[in-house]
Amino acid sequence: MPSTPDLPADLVARARDLDARHAAADRRDAFHLPDGLTYLDGNSLGALPRTVAARVGEVVEREWGEGLVRSWNDAGWWEAATRVGDRLGVLVGAAAGQVVVTDSTSTNLFKVVVAALGMAGSPTRGRVLVDPDSFPTDVYVVGSAARLAGGQVDRVAPADVAAHLRDVGDEVALLVYSSVDYRTGELWDLASMTAAAHEVGALVCWDLCHSAGVLEIGLDAHEADLAVGCGYKYLNGGPGAPAFVYVAERHQAAFHNPVAGWNGHARPFGMEAEYEPAPGIGRARSGTSGMLGLLALEEALRVYDGVPVADLRARSLSLTRFFVEALGALGVDLPVVTPADDARRGSQVSVRHPEAYGVVQALIARGVVGDFREPDLVRLGFAPLYLTHHDAVVAAAHLAEVLATGEFARPEHTRRALVT
Ligand SMILES: Cc1ncc(COP(=O)(O)O)c(C=O)c1O
Repeated sequence: MPSTPDLPADLVARARDLDARHAAADRRDAFHLPDGLTYLDGNSLGALPRTVAARVGEVVEREWGEGLVRSWNDAGWWEAATRVGDRLGVLVGAAAGQVVVTDSTSTNLFKVVVAALGMAGSPTRGRVLVDPDSFPTDVYVVGSAARLAGGQVDRVAPADVAAHLRDVGDEVALLVYSSVDYRTGELWDLASMTAAAHEVGALVCWDLCHSAGVLEIGLDAHEADLAVGCGYKYLNGGPGAPAFVYVAERHQAAFHNPVAGWNGHARPFGMEAEYEPAPGIGRARSGTSGMLGLLALEEALRVYDGVPVADLRARSLSLTRFFVEALGALGVDLPVVTPADDARRGSQVSVRHPEAYGVVQALIARGVVGDFREPDLVRLGFAPLYLTHHDAVVAAAHLAEVLATGEFARPEHTRRALVT
């Protein structure tokens, strides 16, 4: 692995100052991070909180191995989906009883879109708006769910939503938008988009995959309706961790889960012939949850204990701001596609380069792990719980060298891997 380039003393000193200023949200010691690695991909797969391995071992050996089926009662397995949902709700600004952890983001989105078309209550209100540049699963799922439920999909960029609502707002049932764009890192205005939808009588489902755990979302404060998000990015729940779904309390009675499985029944062990939904958020459950993943996520969320989301957001903004500043100081002249405005920036920095894939591979070979996003983006995520401003300088210095040496064009860096 190439050694770390010389780091300018002034940047190192500034990094030290900023790390001290944002120490309140520093939980690096709570994570296992391989030596010598600068990990800028916590927005794809979060790092491993140190206590998770022991907790999973305990679940396997004691709760499963010894407790066996009794653990559904004795170890709190049955209610874990809503218990972890309440814990996660704190991070997204949802009061208890509105979030359940279950299934994948894709599956939860399917349930939400079908349910929301049902809640619209009128065949003339069947339009579902979706950002064509969303993470592809959102566009696919909205298309398939709307088709099955008799709706119609309008692909509308976030900037055009207000005009579209003025034109056909009374035909719109639901808007599906990401709070942070997975490619550019742009943060959309959840409060104003939600208010604009409500003005025309529509609901909004927010995809929080790239915002949960790094910024103040305020679902209840902004009277959000519905939301989905995953557990494996900034929430550090592990590969394929279960996802979550939020249904505001005022909508729960009208929320009819199209995957009406026994876990969402009012009396699951009544084994009744007819389905009766559970009275609260439990109705968004379908089948049996994978306990190993769910309990690993529960343990991972403990690293947030005592860390106000406002402090995390301040640290995250400082990290991304400082990284861009370091790029400038080191002479890296690439277009930064992530907004410079704090109010419009999530927790990542994406830069454009025609050989972005090779740039990312060359960085990985140097121990700086980020990712590539089609067609030409180098995407670098800044997980504020475990990254430091010093990491930002190291990453910027490696990027400067990768560009200066032309390493990105080497054949070993341009060959595509399965997961990019
Ligand atoms: C914004 C967004 N939505 C949805 C997904 C997909 O989630 P899942 O694989 O849990 O269905 C991702 C995955 O990266 C994502 O970034």
